[in-house]
Order: sequence, then C-alpha cells, then structure tokens
Amino acid sequence: MSARSDSQEAKTKPITPRDILARKGGQPIVCLTAYATHVARRVDSHAELLLVGDSLWMVLYGHETTLGCDLDTMIRHGAAVTRGAARACVVVDLPFGSYQESPVQAYRAAARVLAETGCAAVKLEGGREMAETIAFLVARGIPVLAHVGLTPQSVRGFGGFRAQGRTEAEAEAILADAKAVEAAGAFAVVVEGTVEEVAREVTRAIGIPTIGIGASPACDGQILVTEDMVGLSSDWRPSFVKVYADLGADLAAAAAAYAEDVRERRFPAREQTYGAQKRK
Ligand code: KIV
Repeated sequence: MSARSDSQEAKTKPITPRDILARKGGQPIVCLTAYATHVARRVDSHAELLLVGDSLWMVLYGHETTLGCDLDTMIRHGAAVTRGAARACVVVDLPFGSYQESPVQAYRAAARVLAETGCAAVKLEGGREMAETIAFLVARGIPVLAHVGLTPQSVRGFGGFRAQGRTEAEAEAILADAKAVEAAGAFAVVVEGTVEEVAREVTRAIGIPTIGIGASPACDGQILVTEDMVGLSSDWRPSFVKVYADLGADLAAAAAAYAEDVRERRFPAREQTYGAQKRK
C-alpha cells in the first residue's frame, strides 16, 4: 500500500468546477463515481470529475434505494475520495433529507461537506423546485452540480426507477428543470435516465455541460458507477451500462483459489512466512 508522494501531488493542478463548465460543447467530459481512496487513486488520472454518489448506499451497503443514506456517511466517503484524488474535480452528493427542506438547511449540509471532505462541489437532485436552493448555495461560494431526469431520491414519487421524458409532458419538464438549474448557477447538470431526443434538446438549450447517465451520447459528458463498469455490482445491471472488466468474477476466482490453498496447506508457503533467527 503506497501513498502518493507530496511532490507528485504538488505537480498536479486539480480540475475545478469552472474548468468543467468551460468544457461545454468540447471533448466529452469523463466522469466516474468513487467511494473509496484506493478506487479514487486508480481512476483519478482518467476522469475529469469523480462523484461520491449516494448510490454508494445501494452499491456498497446493499440497500434497495438511496433514501436511507445520511450526511455523515457521505462525508466519510467524500474525505476518503479526496485523499485518493489529485487531479479530478471531486463532487459529493447531498443525501436525501439533508437539503430539500430549505436553502438554509442545504447550506449547512453543503458547508459541512466542503469543509470536512475538501471536495470541490456538491451535487443535489431536482430542477425547478431546487432552483432557489442552488442559487442560495452558489451565491455563498458553494459550486453545485445539479441532477435532473430520473432522480433516484424521488424514486417513490416516480413509482420505481423508470426512464423519464418519454411523454411530451415529461420531456418538457426535464427541459424546464435543466433551464432552471442553469439560471440558478449550477456549473453542470447530470441528466439521468432519459431518451436521446430529450438529452439532445436539453444539451442544445443550455449553456452548462450535461453529464449523461443512461441518457445517450447526446450529452457533453458521461458518468457511470465505477462498480458497474468493472462488474462489481449486483447481478442486475441497467442496459445503459457497458462492462469494461469483470472484477466480480476475478474476485470470486481469487477467493476460491485462496480457499483451496489454505485447505491444502499450500498457503502460507515459505515466501509468506517470517524466517526465525537462529537461536543461541
Ligand atoms: O449517486 C450517484 O452515483 C449518481 C450518479 C449515478 C449520477 O447520482
């Protein structure tokens, strides 16, 4: 286990929310989730933005939704990720119930997240109904990544995790939400779970980058849950995920090989055993 040297960190200039905003319409912005230091270290140089998503409540802790996730958990994982990231812009999700009540409640939660994790920005879910809160945070120096479309914290309202924007009314709502978060000062917006036509219209209509997840190639950037991308999530996987490695299968195979070695007394071998000094 090796920590990066201080000189290595000093050479790397972190990507800021302003840099992400400036990427509108340019080369697609690469974003991934990260929940832990060791993962952040490995993906940091490949992604412009690392999101400590409240999806960790499902992916790491095995819950059915993100609804039970609390602020202390997000702060603990956020701090772990900033310890592992030198270059990427680290953004931490505000969890359900920590910001929807009022702009002041959101400020208190976001201020704790920024101060206690060292991240660059917070993300919160919602469009027009959260515009006042986003403006409140941005005016007080807290960069905000917005999130519209299929917003998992509203899963009960949607009646399940289902793609949004298939009807005219839903498409218009997503467009209005995206325009509202832009006007409120968000530096970018995650667009989740919608059809290509809507993603394209939103991306054309606003001046901040759209970061798509299950939202077609029409967005300014893409984000995936890293565990999904490397085959470490549960057996069910959304159709928009592309799996680039099967670490789940590798992990199970490694555990099986280790178990056999232990049972057959092949592990630990001489190389893994401390040598005793000659006794006098
Ligand atoms: O919580 C999360 O990881 C997210 C991304 C999937 C966008 O919100």
